[in-house]
Amino acid sequence: MSKDNFTVTPWDVSGDVNYNKLIKNFGLSKIDDKLLEKIKKQTGELHLFLKRGLFIAHRDLDVVLNSYAKGDSFFLYTGRGPSGNTHIGHLIPWILAKWLQDKYDLELYFQMTDDEKFLFKENLTLEEATGFAYENALDVIALGFDPKKTHIFTNTQYAKTLYPQALRVAKKLTFSTTKAVFGFTNETNTGQIFYTSMQTVPAFLPSVKAGRNIYCLIPHGIDQDPHFRVARDILPKLGYYKPASIQNIFFPGLAKGGKMSASDVNSAIFTTDSKKEVEKKINSAFTGGRETIEKQQKEGGNPDICNIYKYNHFLFEEDDERIEEMRHLCKKGQIRCKDCKKQLVQKINNFLQEHQKKRQLAKAKLSEFILTD
Ligand code: TYM
Repeated sequence: MSKDNFTVTPWDVSGDVNYNKLIKNFGLSKIDDKLLEKIKKQTGELHLFLKRGLFIAHRDLDVVLNSYAKGDSFFLYTGRGPSGNTHIGHLIPWILAKWLQDKYDLELYFQMTDDEKFLFKENLTLEEATGFAYENALDVIALGFDPKKTHIFTNTQYAKTLYPQALRVAKKLTFSTTKAVFGFTNETNTGQIFYTSMQTVPAFLPSVKAGRNIYCLIPHGIDQDPHFRVARDILPKLGYYKPASIQNIFFPGLAKGGKMSASDVNSAIFTTDSKKEVEKKINSAFTGGRETIEKQQKEGGNPDICNIYKYNHFLFEEDDERIEEMRHLCKKGQIRCKDCKKQLVQKINNFLQEHQKKRQLAKAKLSEFILTD
């Protein structure tokens, strides 16, 4: 753990993340009101995630939007490391990507890094990782992306196209840089050292294909930034634009503090969970409630540390008045945690029921989305 008492790398998030410090450490820009105004002016509205502060940081988003305003469009790139089922936290950057695709009429490149997960997960076989990639792709498709503009690929099955471009990146990337950025050591396997070159490729592949420079915007969780810091350093050396990004904070896990994480099954609600599983998980989630009902009524609860409130705030309660009311009732001790939990179980299960239906239908649509070579 760093001196800040938290760690954020693409493979390890621990401690109590101080986002202001992280933004400073990573050298990111905050998404401010001026930038939000610009987005609103171009799209006609602000997505809930932007209004409620789930996306807080960026690199060069203003540059991409200014160039868009002058008639120069851009493309989207995001991805998933397929090591298991998809949880609700993973959906956050994808939901925003879908909104951006609709609002700005954009192509999306979606990378499934089965190679990464094979290299970084001790007990995962390559076949298992590739299998999860197809499972996870169903979740992506279920969100309603446009098949004509959305291209999903696994690194191993699109390797003939990706590998030559990754080599160009790798030739410019030294071991010393990867050590400094990712903390690699002499014991790190050499696949891991090479890997970031693969994650860089989709940020300029459309420019290679088009034979001209096209701006790239990457919606992603803040943990992935180190990869794109490297990409921004290398790509101008190859004659391409630096990729821009829009970055979200972590969707909370079920326990106190910490993020929703696939490697901790008890922290996460998966898109494949049954109604009963959701109920069980939410009922045992950490809240901002007091030890007894009497104390709760007298002193009120604390929505600021409550996972149930945060889930509503970030994703499940879009109505601004209703979320304010929930906050007020909680602070005044006029609602019990039990009741908030019950309402949230209902909302999550409604969402998952729809999602699971669309996920099922996505199986027949996979071939419209998948790129292989
Ligand atoms: P992965 O599979 O760890 O995560 C997929 C995306 O979900 C984000 N994320 C979260 N966002 C909010 N709350 C959480 N609790 C949470 N947990 C994960 C991640 O930041 C990520 O955006 N190496 C990548 C795969 C990848 C990629 C990309 C991701 C390849 N190319 C381009 C983003 C953009 C990975 O393992 O992601």
